[in-house]
Amino acid sequence: MTTTPKSRAPTKSIGKRTAADAKASAVAKAKKIAPAVPAQIGSTPRTKFRGKEDIFGRLVEDHDRHRALLAMISATHGDSKDRKKLFKELVLEIHGHAAAEEQALWSSVMRHPKTTEDAGHAVGEHKEMDKLLADLAARDMAKSGWLRRFSKVKDEYLHHIREEEQEQFLHAQKHLTPDDLRHLKQVFEERKSVEKANAVVKKKIRLK
Ligand SMILES: [Fe+2]
Ligand SMILES: [Fe+2]
Repeated sequence: MTTTPKSRAPTKSIGKRTAADAKASAVAKAKKIAPAVPAQIGSTPRTKFRGKEDIFGRLVEDHDRHRALLAMISATHGDSKDRKKLFKELVLEIHGHAAAEEQALWSSVMRHPKTTEDAGHAVGEHKEMDKLLADLAARDMAKSGWLRRFSKVKDEYLHHIREEEQEQFLHAQKHLTPDDLRHLKQVFEERKSVEKANAVVKKKIRLK
């Protein structure tokens, strides 16, 4: 007679989030907007911050959420409900994230002469992204050209967040203390929810 093996005791959580956990939780947040739409973000650019508990880890988690939203929008068609919902969420997310990132991180980074330029560069790209998103919002999603324009904006934004993760965050980190990092994360969390709640989808065609 065989005996049934005892089920293994559940593995104790070590209380630390891995990079993979952080990425999965970011994708899950994006999926809530349109659960039927695939979110194939594939491999993400290498960064040492993914899964970290500090401000940089928090920012990368938002970036992965945005990567998922971008991939999901690319998988939608015409002026479908899912495309509309996902695009609105992307605009509010990016607006809330960029404003809070400026108020928490880039304002502090700008104060340090060695990183003033990095902060100016990141903030300049946020302004550009605002204009590109307003242009997309003003155009007809049902037309085939919309997705083509969207793909260009997607590439611009992916470039922006990769550069933050692989260059500007590394420079910024050198001039911030552990206390700064804790404080900045708290400021980011507070500001992100307020900025996202107050964000609106602006519509303005860019003539060029
Ligand atoms: Fe940014
Ligand atoms: Fe960012």
